[in-house]
Amino acid sequence: MPLLNHPFIQVNHDENARDEFVLGLKRHINLNFGPKLQDVYEKKAQPSFRKEKGRNFKNRHEARKQMVKEPTFQSWGSLWSTAQGLMWETSESKSVRQYDDLIDKTTIRGKKKGSIKTNSKLEIPRYVSAVDIHGMPGGYGLELNDKDIMSGALYDTSGSIYGKGQGLRGGNHPSLALIKFIKNRFPNLKPKKILEQGCSAGGSTFFWSKAFPEAKIFAIDLGAGMLRMAHAKMEKMGVEVHFSQQNAEKTEFPDNHFDLIISNIMIHETSSKALPKIMKDCHRILKKGGVMAHMDVPLRNKELPAYMEWYRDWSTHFNHEPFWGALHDMDIKKPIIAGGFKKQNIFDEMIPDNPHGVWWAAGGQKV
Ligand SMILES: C[S@@+](CC[C@H](N)C(=O)[O-])C[C@H]1O[C@@H](n2cnc3c(N)ncnc32)[C@H](O)[C@@H]1O
Repeated sequence: MPLLNHPFIQVNHDENARDEFVLGLKRHINLNFGPKLQDVYEKKAQPSFRKEKGRNFKNRHEARKQMVKEPTFQSWGSLWSTAQGLMWETSESKSVRQYDDLIDKTTIRGKKKGSIKTNSKLEIPRYVSAVDIHGMPGGYGLELNDKDIMSGALYDTSGSIYGKGQGLRGGNHPSLALIKFIKNRFPNLKPKKILEQGCSAGGSTFFWSKAFPEAKIFAIDLGAGMLRMAHAKMEKMGVEVHFSQQNAEKTEFPDNHFDLIISNIMIHETSSKALPKIMKDCHRILKKGGVMAHMDVPLRNKELPAYMEWYRDWSTHFNHEPFWGALHDMDIKKPIIAGGFKKQNIFDEMIPDNPHGVWWAAGGQKV
């Protein structure tokens, strides 16, 4: 069984062997080598800092400045980045090899269940256009031609390695944790219209349509290549989803339109300026009684031990995720309330994903 199981992307023997190698390397770096950095932090970096300043690290920024001087951390970081680069190389080589075939397979002919509306004039915000987030070549906004699916192919081909390489994604899709949370918290919510923001290549979209079969599903993303891949996958599965290329900060949907708006790991890839706008637009397009729920990685720094706060901040500085640390420092309730939600109707909490751990959900109900 190849590591990657995709409706359009084929994996040959050598490509699978390479995928397995990169996954093994990532698991070794993250699960065997990574935890050993705690010794370096506690027995070398912290004592050196204390000797010089007469106190412990005040925060993860001081810890980082000290840790980058440590050869063990330098070796680990270099290996981590090399493995990440290898992951994108193995994704890219598969996607480039069968590019024409992929364009053909993702071009939808005949009757469609859902729809797609791309917008070549959409201005891609800097937080996505200026960085190749987590090193993905070309970034989310990559568009090589008007049928291009390259970003979707890269995202999907890396998906079988990225999470597993960190010891995540043992089983359930993360969206199932959010679906369970929403159904428990809002048992009377029977959404007729759902919007998924930052849908990427549609990894979560199917789960929303399955969880709420009565609802009409809409999904937006900044990247046209992502949306084309997502749309083709949903059509292949016979699932009706209406995709459009839009910025969640200011969508074209009418006021009071949706019963439920969700996102999965989108908000940490936005910015402190974008976030209040996203909350405000969500509030505008939600119907009264409707719910907004953004799920993201569970990195509430103020609740983490100092060492973990430093360790988990890796992506901010070395994995092209500039908003990662700032999001987790901020009080998410502020932009949610500023967006129009009432204090007593919002949530900001860890949600269980047994047996895999926890996710973080923040949002509110419009009253
Ligand atoms: C990590 S991916 C999300 C993965 C996806 N939700 C899933 O479950 O597979 C983040 C996505 O959010 C999109 N995104 C970031 N900012 C956005 C915005 N302001 N409006 C719409 N999409 C956005 C990016 O283009 C990217 O595809």
